[in-house]
Amino acid sequence: MTTDNSQRTRVLTGITTTGTPHLGNYVGAIRPTVQASRNPATQGFYFLADYHALIKCDDPARIQRSTLEIAASWIAAGLDPDGVMFYRQSDIPEIPELTWLLTCVTGKGMLNRAHAYKASVDKNNLAGNDPDADVTAGLFMYPVLMGADILMFKAHKVPVGRDQIQHIEMARDLASSFNHLYGEHLVLPEAVIEESVALLPGLDGRKMSKSYDNTIPLFSSSAQLKKLISSIVTDSRAPGEAKDTEGSALFQIYQAFAGAEETATLAKAYADGIGWGDAKQILFERIDREVAPMRAKYEELINNPAQVDAMLLKGAAKARELATPFIKELRHAVGLRSLASAVTAQTSTPIARAASPSFKQYREQDGQFYFKLVDPQGRVLLQSLGFSSPKDAGMAIAQLQQDDAKAMAALGTQVGLGDGVSAHDVAVSLATLRAEIAEKAKNKT
Ligand code: TRP
Repeated sequence: MTTDNSQRTRVLTGITTTGTPHLGNYVGAIRPTVQASRNPATQGFYFLADYHALIKCDDPARIQRSTLEIAASWIAAGLDPDGVMFYRQSDIPEIPELTWLLTCVTGKGMLNRAHAYKASVDKNNLAGNDPDADVTAGLFMYPVLMGADILMFKAHKVPVGRDQIQHIEMARDLASSFNHLYGEHLVLPEAVIEESVALLPGLDGRKMSKSYDNTIPLFSSSAQLKKLISSIVTDSRAPGEAKDTEGSALFQIYQAFAGAEETATLAKAYADGIGWGDAKQILFERIDREVAPMRAKYEELINNPAQVDAMLLKGAAKARELATPFIKELRHAVGLRSLASAVTAQTSTPIARAASPSFKQYREQDGQFYFKLVDPQGRVLLQSLGFSSPKDAGMAIAQLQQDDAKAMAALGTQVGLGDGVSAHDVAVSLATLRAEIAEKAKNKT
């Protein structure tokens, strides 16, 4: 690579190694990511999240097999392991090490509010079980491990599905807390949600997903692919009857592979009453045309696991060239350091560790700009409604910082108190923030 790495935007994403890649993964993640990985303005970090896999899978053979299949799929789909960082999470011991450093700046309350954990608790409550029945500490800690994945490599952008947005926000929170305590070491990442990528329907018309058992594996034999495609649900219209493209899983899958012109041709065939058998044949041929050239490479890799291992280890060695010095820096920052090294300023910071609330600004999917005031334990004290510009949100924050009583009155319903929070809590919290800002300003001069 000739590009200066320090100038490139670092894009990082992980794939949990519990399943076999299917067409939905290919269209939604593998294909767009491989394409994006060729952008010379970015540096890609793509990794097999096998520590994450342990959270939901206790079948060792499945984790091993899935790791091999996913690695082989990405390479077969065109990912260039020499052009990007492609590694297995568990080959980077610095990641669990960073996980612990982050654990110690994570509010337990924040983790209580993580969607995945909360969903399990809600389910238990509904069933009348102990709220934490069958919940492992691994599930509870999931957001911290994910934060370590991201922060370890100073990722700027993290392409993820919508269900993961909260985890990226948490990674940002962890990074701010860490930086606040120990100095500016960590980079705050941003989630990237690929709006244009359509969700692929599965065999039964619902979203293609392992949990619905309606997937078409990305790499099966041509015959198997054909057989599965023939089992896609259709309505009972006979050949000669016009068919609806809308709501047709077959059509939607076709669209994810075909160009605009091909898609228009199939739409016309639908209107002209193409038989479902013929439509399925067209879909099979279109997918097979794209997958067949990759299949050979996939087979070769699957049959040479040692080759895939070697490739992943090479990737890990490259990634560790960044991770090893960085964890050293972070260990030093928190005080895990040579006893002979000079004691540096952070140890005598006058700012009380647990005393700082903070404003968090963010943008929601509605395109509006929001903020919240959170206390050090992660409890939401204030929550705004949407502002049309980040500047408006910033101005409201500035008002609140100056004079909260006046600002609350002026902002009206635009800003509300968090659950169980009183105006007094907010006043105390903002007073602390003000004192801290004043303290910081004093230390600077
Ligand atoms: N949790 C992610 C998922 O289930 C996978 C993942 C693990 C990940 N670590 C990550 C994604 C870091 C992005 C960045 O999809």
